[in-house]
Amino acid sequence: MPETPQRILEHLRSDGVSVVVERRGDELPCILHWGRDLGELDEGDLASFAAANSTVLGSDTLDEEPRVSLLPEASRGWFGRPGLRGHRDGRSFSPRFRVTGARRADEAGSDRLIWLAHDAAAELQLQLTLELAPSGLLRARAWVTNVGSSPFSLDALEIALPVPVCAGEILEHTGRHLLERQEQRSAFQPGTHLRESRRARGHDATMLLAAGTPGFSARAGEVWGVHVGWSGNTSVAAERVQPTGTRVLTGGELLLAGEGALAPGDKYRSPWLWAAHGDGTDALSARFHDFLRARPEHPRGPRKVLCNVWEAVYFDHSLPRLLELAERAAAVGVERFVLDDGWFSGRRDSTAGLGDWSVDRAVWPDGLWPLVARVQQLGMDFGLWFEPEMVSPDSDLARAHPEWMLQPGDGRLPASSRSQQVLNLADPGAFAHVLEAMDALLAEYPIAYVKWDHNRDLAEAGDAATGRASAHAQTGAAYRLLDELHARHPTVEFESCSGGGGRADLGMMGRAERLWASDTIDALERVGIEAGTGMLLPPEMIGSHIGAARSHTTSRTHDLAFRGAQAIFGHLGIEWDLTRISDAETKELAEWVALYKRWRPLLHSGRVVHGDPIDDAVAIRGVVAHDRTEALFAVTQLRAGLSYPPGRFRIPGLDERRRYRVGLVHPADAVGPHKTNVEGWWQRETTLAGSVLTTAGLHLPPQHPEHTVLVSLAS
Ligand code: GLA
Repeated sequence: MPETPQRILEHLRSDGVSVVVERRGDELPCILHWGRDLGELDEGDLASFAAANSTVLGSDTLDEEPRVSLLPEASRGWFGRPGLRGHRDGRSFSPRFRVTGARRADEAGSDRLIWLAHDAAAELQLQLTLELAPSGLLRARAWVTNVGSSPFSLDALEIALPVPVCAGEILEHTGRHLLERQEQRSAFQPGTHLRESRRARGHDATMLLAAGTPGFSARAGEVWGVHVGWSGNTSVAAERVQPTGTRVLTGGELLLAGEGALAPGDKYRSPWLWAAHGDGTDALSARFHDFLRARPEHPRGPRKVLCNVWEAVYFDHSLPRLLELAERAAAVGVERFVLDDGWFSGRRDSTAGLGDWSVDRAVWPDGLWPLVARVQQLGMDFGLWFEPEMVSPDSDLARAHPEWMLQPGDGRLPASSRSQQVLNLADPGAFAHVLEAMDALLAEYPIAYVKWDHNRDLAEAGDAATGRASAHAQTGAAYRLLDELHARHPTVEFESCSGGGGRADLGMMGRAERLWASDTIDALERVGIEAGTGMLLPPEMIGSHIGAARSHTTSRTHDLAFRGAQAIFGHLGIEWDLTRISDAETKELAEWVALYKRWRPLLHSGRVVHGDPIDDAVAIRGVVAHDRTEALFAVTQLRAGLSYPPGRFRIPGLDERRRYRVGLVHPADAVGPHKTNVEGWWQRETTLAGSVLTTAGLHLPPQHPEHTVLVSLAS
């Protein structure tokens, strides 16, 4: 019998989650368990757990037990994708790291494990970090250094986290512009289910790659999910490797050819791979929400109702029209007025001007002051749109510095998109140009809010001078730009927009207070888009607007009651030409704004829950206060259902020992439930036991399709 190497076992526990990490001898650490809390385990318990869990060797396999570490290695019998892929001029293609040091530390409340490792033959040094936050959210990253004297070509550095064999179903997101984060499910089959994003943004990228017990839902089944916190190119995979059927979720940055070239002494650090486990996807999301909410920089206090002028005026920046819009906005209770695209030099439509970040004097002869001053006088603060990472070929900037446009390096420009190219922010001159221009505007005007847009995919993103791929450098430079502006203007709030919700990752959302979740304001489409987005982000970070009755993107028409009831569940905004609406609409809109203000303390702090579907024509989402004394639910009839009314639904998240007053909430004149001759609880308030509401359920009021009722519960 070969001698069993010494085992070092660590047990991390937090908020119902356990992570057991095993290190054998000097091998890289392997996760023995990540999931439900295992309770107190002493050293003996851990040792027997590890001893009992050696993989049994099957037939016709390597004679060594395969080990799947946080950075799986072929040199330890792993036939899935290795965590570190690369080579030194063809050699050192199969690293075998040996741990040289390890420590465990409390890192701002999180339990952090760090391992240092070395591969003397490959001349690589490695640092691995694994951290469990108080919310039970796990994250890991790797850092590799070329300690040799020749270049090392790194192709990928991806963390892998194991999931158990009961995780038989995959959930992920797909989508497109105007339809972000649509759920997609499949069986977790043997092989590699790979999702790559090569556009350096993610309308079609998965926000979460999750695997769970088949049929898992918002409230039931176990589920494990990972997210790559990086706004550039990414890769995530669900791998099931035979013959053992070992399952891992992996993720990291997708490096373009040559982006991982490490000269002697160079380091590459992977983005964080974030990971959450939960009983149901609500529990998984809660770990992300709690983590984000615990950050000191998280937006606190009332999330201001904003008016964004884009769908009201587009590029028509006529001052009288904007002033009237501002007045109307203030009158309905708006607290922040955001001037969108079209205010800067040469920007009369989407074909020119990006990069020339100075106020267009032809349109704004007195600068933005006449508007800004009035907005302030009306008691609102002011926000402004920028697209800092982009450049129009038809701009003074591109004429002066055509070499600042990202390009493949053979004299060609990539295909244009929305008539624009990407500005090479990794070029110090281009970086300084944008930084100084934005800084000057933020210093000149009392700008409280920046809408940071990014309206095209990065295609063939290379540096003109070197001809080398530059998506990695571009993403890092965009972060540096945003960080520097934050540092210079610490009170300014940033919104991440990328043709709507193309950039919703935690790299960007660690730097922005709000996501513009989609360019579609159609309330019906928003139900799915916001459900997907809300898996990661809490409602106060998801921009949700009340738009025109007839949606500009889908041409569907919806009542204000439907549009309002959807939008109040995010960070509310209005994007509608208020100068052309009726008095009745103005009155009802003001009531929706007031309703949002009344409920936002709960909506922006409570636990987000979803009702498991009783009928796929009905969507139920709610927010329950942490002490479970109060809740607000939106019950949406997406389309005509087979059953009408749909029946009883169990209200999730309540305290079974309390009694709740249950009633409908809506502005006085809004359309209520569909009138029927049936008397229901919705005609007047009722009081019901929490156990009844959670277990027996409550009959849903009859509704027209594309309509929402809001149900309030108070104990
Ligand atoms: C993008 C954004 C919109 C708007 C326009 C302006 O499409 O997603 O909200 O800001 O750009 O050009």
